[in-house]
Amino acid sequence: MTTTKTRDRLRIAIQKSGRMADVSQDLLARCGLKFRQSRDKLFCFGESMPIDLLLVRDDDIPGLIAQGVADLGIVGRNVLAEQTLAARANGEAAPGVELRPLNTSRCRLSIAVPQEMEYENPQQLQGLRIATSYPALLGDWLARNGVEAKVVFLAGSVEIAPRLGTADLICDLVSSGATLAANQLKEAVVLLDSEAVIAGPEEVPLDERGELRELLLRRIDGVIQVRESKLVMLHAARGAIETIRAILPNAQTPTLLPIEGSPDQVALQAVCYGAVTWTHLEDMKRAGASQLLVLPVEKILA
Ligand code: PRP
Ligand code: ZN
Repeated sequence: MTTTKTRDRLRIAIQKSGRMADVSQDLLARCGLKFRQSRDKLFCFGESMPIDLLLVRDDDIPGLIAQGVADLGIVGRNVLAEQTLAARANGEAAPGVELRPLNTSRCRLSIAVPQEMEYENPQQLQGLRIATSYPALLGDWLARNGVEAKVVFLAGSVEIAPRLGTADLICDLVSSGATLAANQLKEAVVLLDSEAVIAGPEEVPLDERGELRELLLRRIDGVIQVRESKLVMLHAARGAIETIRAILPNAQTPTLLPIEGSPDQVALQAVCYGAVTWTHLEDMKRAGASQLLVLPVEKILA
C-alpha cells in the first residue's frame, strides 16, 4: 500500500478481530457506511460513501495514523496512550489524538497483585518485577510515584507471569475481572480508565478527506447520543406537568399536545438523553402521569 499526500477517499483503520472489531463495524454501519470486503479481508471498499476500511491489529492503528496510511482509527484509549507516551520518550510526535470517546468497550489498565498480598501504597512495589504489555504507561506511573521496579515486557498472557515465576505482579487490562480471579490476582491500582475512541491526526486533512472526516464525526456524535436516548410519552393534568418535567432524566424541552375531549389533560412527549428507569416511571405516575410509554430512538439530527 502506498501513501499519497492527497487522497479523495477517507481510510479508517479498525481492529480485524477481537473485542473491538464488532463494536467498530457496528458503529460505522449505524453511520450509514456499507463496505464490500476484499478477498484478503484487509481492505474493505466503501460502497455508500468514499470511506474505506483497513482491518488490522489494534496495536498497529496509531502507527498507521502516524504514517498517514489511515486518516482515522477506532482504538482503545490504552493503546493510543501507550504509543503516545512511547513516541514522546523517543522524541517523536504523538501518533494521533483522541477525537471522540465512544463510551463502549470500557476497561481499566491496572496493577494487579497476588490475592494474598495486602496492597497499601506504591512504595511496596519497590524492587519487584512487574509483567506488562504497557511498559510506557507503567514506567510513567512508577516514575511519578518514585518507585523503582523491574518492568518485564510480555506481548500477551501477562496474567500467568506470577504463577510462572517470571514476575511478582502484573499491569494489564481488566474488564470483568474474571481473568484476574482465575489467576489468583486482585486489582490494586487503576492507572488508566479506557474505552474505545476515534483517533486521528490533530490536523484536519486539507483535501476532500477533511469534509468526510467532519461529516463522519457528526454522524458518530448522533449515533452515540441516540444509543441511550428514549422517547417518553405520557398523559397528565396540565397542573402536574412541571413536577413531571423535573423527573424526566436529561430531557430536552417537551412537546405538549391537547387531548381530544379532555380539556384539562395534555399529552407530553420528550426525548431523554439518558436511561429512563422503572423508578423514573413510578415517580412520574405518582406525580399524576398516566399512559406512560418509553420508546427507543432510531436517529437524531438536532
Ligand atoms: C484482556 C486482558 C486480560 C483480559 C481481561 O485481554 O489482557 O487478559 O482482557 O478481561 P476480564 O477482566 O474481563 O477477564 P484481551 O482479551 O483483550 O486479549 P489480549 O490480551 O490478547 O489483547
Ligand atoms: Zn491487543
